[in-house]
Amino acid sequence: MSHEVIRSTVVPIIYLVSTVFFIFGIKQLAKVKTARRGNTLAAVGMLFAIVGSLLELGVIDYRWIGGGMLVGTIIGAAFAIRVQMTAMPEMVALFNGFGGLASALVAGSVFWERVVEQSATGRIHQVLGTDSAITVMLSILIGGITFTGSIVALLKLQGNLKKGQPILLPARHFITLGLLAGSFVIGGFAVAALAADSVVLVLVLSGAALLLGILLTIPIGGADMPVVVSLLNSYSGVAASMAGFVIGNPLLIIAGAMVGAAGLILTQIMCVAMNRSLLNVLVGGFGVAEGTGGGSDEYTNVTSCGPEEAAMILENAESVIIIPGYGLAVAQAQHAVRELADLLKARGTKVTYAIHPVAGRMPGHMNVLLAEADVPYEDLLEMDVVNPEFKNTDVVIILGANDVVNPVANKDPKSPIAGMPILNAYEARSVFVVKRSLSAGYAGIKNELFEYDNTMMIFGDAKKVIQDLIAEVKDL
Ligand code: TAP
Repeated sequence: MSHEVIRSTVVPIIYLVSTVFFIFGIKQLAKVKTARRGNTLAAVGMLFAIVGSLLELGVIDYRWIGGGMLVGTIIGAAFAIRVQMTAMPEMVALFNGFGGLASALVAGSVFWERVVEQSATGRIHQVLGTDSAITVMLSILIGGITFTGSIVALLKLQGNLKKGQPILLPARHFITLGLLAGSFVIGGFAVAALAADSVVLVLVLSGAALLLGILLTIPIGGADMPVVVSLLNSYSGVAASMAGFVIGNPLLIIAGAMVGAAGLILTQIMCVAMNRSLLNVLVGGFGVAEGTGGGSDEYTNVTSCGPEEAAMILENAESVIIIPGYGLAVAQAQHAVRELADLLKARGTKVTYAIHPVAGRMPGHMNVLLAEADVPYEDLLEMDVVNPEFKNTDVVIILGANDVVNPVANKDPKSPIAGMPILNAYEARSVFVVKRSLSAGYAGIKNELFEYDNTMMIFGDAKKVIQDLIAEVKDL
């Protein structure tokens, strides 16, 4: 079969099969139960995509491809093996960033090959074609923003950049909007420029894009990072889609558009979860300019108890709601918590779990964690379902959660989490908060729930405390 026949008949079929795998893969990722299969399907889709691309290109030097794959595999495997489950959000941010960088580099390489290397004459839109010239510039712009934006998000998630708090530059809206508008103008000039003049413009555009990524992400902080990470995920998809237009690869256009759309839907879900408009998040610095909210960080009137006392209260409880948070993931206490729930259920207690949409550090974090310990799906209740239940509940056990149960969100409009819907744990008859200290959660603010009369702190590592509780409940 000639290369031309392969390109015109076999390759489109392979791309179609790959697209189908991607679509079903993404669909299955939507449910914890089928997510692993979804991941495998998408990976198989990617294999088809690679084979299709190689067949489409025909005779090429496989040494570069093999070398690139080897280096990529070593770096990817090293990251994947070493990463802690709690650091997965940082890893996702890094992936988004690399996706953006790869798209910008693809566009840059097309520009380099067809304009610089071939010493092209004439204007860029004539050399590359108007569509390609525009998408090259957009790819560099969006890819660059995604790259540095994701690196800043990574540093914020790690708490390395001002402990994840917003960084507010003076006149930041003016600077950012000016730079964004300027980037479009430079990109436009680059499309219309003579080949000889365009290199400088493309370099300036690249620099502006990298700076924009930083400026757009540093003012966002506190509890709003989930929105940013999902938005950057969407940007990385759009950048890939643009790169698909640049190299004329329909599969990359489709796959990029799917990631872009999925990221946008997730962004919308996260905005609803935080009760914020997207603009509100992007402008950033929520609650910070006006004051940090949450009052003084000093705690008075905190009551604490040990597992023995808690077990005695649990003995008489008819209903228990468990609220998992980031600390549960840190402690890797998911198996222990399931054992405790099973034990209480066996004693006739009704046990359910309340899942806040932004609990943990990534969308669905708690669902995945509890699924790992085979906690039944029907026991996991979403916020709007569980909130009316708290006032009729005997005991709430909060395990390593903090911001998502902080009543200040409903009370103080100056708080960084003002307006964020919370789990109304404080309405239960007794509330146990299991954490190691009185330290703040991700948003960095005091939690007045710890001072409520019906709250008792059980200080310690979540796994250790639950194991002690299990022992006490067994002794009852
Ligand atoms: P956080 O408010 O971050 O609180 C977690 C608590 O866990 C901390 O106060 C910490 O207190 C405790 N902890 C840590 N290790 C522990 C251990 N080994 N044993 C027991 N407790 C431990 O968590 P949350 O309530 O889940 O809220 C999530 C926050 O992260 C929100 O502000 C959210 O906006 C933000 N965020 C979420 C996402 C997504 S998509 N879910 C992404 C980025 C940011 P001690 O140090 O005293 O133990």
